[in-house]
Amino acid sequence: MSAAIPKEALSQEEKERAYAQIANVVKQYKHKKDSLVQILHLAQEIYGHLPLELQQFIAKEMNIPLSQVSGVVSFYSFFSTVPRGRHTIRVCLGTACYVRGGKKIVEHLQNKLQVELGGTTEDGNFTFEVARCIGACGLAPALMIDDTVYKQVNVNKLDKILEQY
Ligand code: FES
Repeated sequence: MSAAIPKEALSQEEKERAYAQIANVVKQYKHKKDSLVQILHLAQEIYGHLPLELQQFIAKEMNIPLSQVSGVVSFYSFFSTVPRGRHTIRVCLGTACYVRGGKKIVEHLQNKLQVELGGTTEDGNFTFEVARCIGACGLAPALMIDDTVYKQVNVNKLDKILEQY
């Protein structure tokens, strides 16, 4: 289970350390062809998300316009400009999961965790998203928490799963 620390909790010192690390990443990769996506990936891994301030920093370090950085960040759904939770829940709403109760799972999570789709719980534990198909259609409805796939989920099973996090 990967457990990133919610980055809104970073102290000034940790933030500076993260920026220094990211500056090193840029230095290492900026001369390689098409390296922007890779740099942003690593920056998000280090910092947790890619706020505008950090995008500006990367653009400056790479000597490219901010619009180029922001364009890539907004194009790919795996980049996030807001802090993410320690864990990411992705409920599958592909056809098989949808017809077998995926929507009910989504509603249950919204009520239980008090979070909207795309949002992060107040305690920073979960970011809540939906997915199209996670390859477990035969055992729908399915969801993922971080890299773990849970199949044939129902509301009771889900409550037990959440307790592990
Ligand atoms: S539709 Fe949900 S796993 Fe394929």
